Parts: sequence; C-alpha cells; structure tokens
Amino acid sequence: GYRVEDDYDYLFKVVLIGDSGVGKSNLLSRFTKNEFNLESKSTIGVEFATRTLTVEGKVIKAQIWDTAGQESSLAHVYLLTVHFSISSRYRAITSAYYRGAVGALLVYDVTRRATFENVDRWLKELKNHTDPNIVVMLVGNKSDLRHLLAVPTEDGKSYAEQESLCFMETSALEATNVEDAFAEVLTQIY
Ligand code: GTP
Ligand code: MG
Repeated sequence: GYRVEDDYDYLFKVVLIGDSGVGKSNLLSRFTKNEFNLESKSTIGVEFATRTLTVEGKVIKAQIWDTAGQESSLAHVYLLTVHFSISSRYRAITSAYYRGAVGALLVYDVTRRATFENVDRWLKELKNHTDPNIVVMLVGNKSDLRHLLAVPTEDGKSYAEQESLCFMETSALEATNVEDAFAEVLTQIY
C-alpha cells in the first residue's frame, strides 16, 4: 500500500568503526546508495546516511554513522601530550558518536594485518561507550583482493567466536556480502 517516505516502525542507529582506510565509507555508500569510489578520501568529521528495509514485515530505518578511523589513535597522542581541554573535547565527540547506538560494524582490511590487530582496541572503545547489548559484526573488508590476503578467514572467524561477535567478509568494491552484513546486524537488533 501507500507509504510516506518517513513512515517506519523502528529507527536503529548503527556505527561504523575500524582503522583508517579499511573501507568504512565505501561500505556505507554501497549499502545506502549502491555506489563505490576507488579514490575516496579519508572521512572528515562525522557523516551519516540512512536506508530503510523490511525485517519480518516491520519497516526498519537504519541510521548509519561514519567517521575517520584515525581519530582514535590521534586521541591517544592528545591524551598523552596535549592540553586537557582538547582531550576532553575529543571525549565529548566520541561519546556523541556512540550515544544510542544499538549496532556496530567493526571493520578491518583483510590485506593489512595491522588493521586486524587493532580490532581489540576498537572493541574496547566500543564497550567503554555503548550498551553491553549492542550487536557487533566483525567485518573483514576487501575480500576481492584475494592475492593480497594477509588475514586468513579462520583468524577473523575465531576471533569473532571468542568475543561473541557476528562475522562476515565483504567487498564494497564487488558488493559482496555488504547487504547481508548490515541486514544481519539489523535483524539481530530487531
Ligand atoms: P577513513 O575515513 O580514513 O577512516 O577510511 P575508510 O575506512 O572510510 O576507507 P574508505 O572507504 O575511504 O576506503 C579506503 C580505500 O580503500 C579507498 O581507496 C577505497 O576505494 C578502497 N576500498 C574500500 N573498500 C574496498 C573493497 O572492498 N575492495 C577494494 N579493493 N578496495 C576498497
Ligand atoms: Mg571514511
């Protein structure tokens, strides 16, 4: 039947986190606009996009937040070396980013081992700022770059099992599993 655009049953906030360059913004644009950009620049500030989908007959509006992955590491430098007002401002921004989130995609790049090693740190930050019931999907992105694989699927999978996270390997470029990764998080939340 007829449905106005902003008519939905549930609004869920989902955050994208993970190191810089792992493909968070391209996962978001693939999911919300079916677009991919090979030369995308690092995200400045906070962006968000929405997409509405139906889960078990209910209309769910997903509001997905995206920010630059390097802010976290920069903050550690700030906290150690720079004036307190800067670190407290950073903390305020960080809390705003996570506030009200019911789902998260924690993304690493399957071709860069260091981005997988940092997943632990991101998970800690997430746990510090969100409700313990948040649904977290560990995402190994860039699965299209098979010849450059640096994180075997098994490693992602066993880490996810150990931490009770969902797990999927995706390619924003080839649009593999992107829809499934977001839809799975939204279904689990629902
Ligand atoms: P920050 O905003 O700095 O935190 O980075 P990001 O995580 O948003 O990464 P972004 O989406 O900007 O992607 C970084 C680079 O990786 C870009 O050149 C993208 O085109 C590329 N990229 C993203 N996803 C994929 C993918 O699935 N496959 C391949 N081959 N490249 C990808
Ligand atoms: Mg980005």
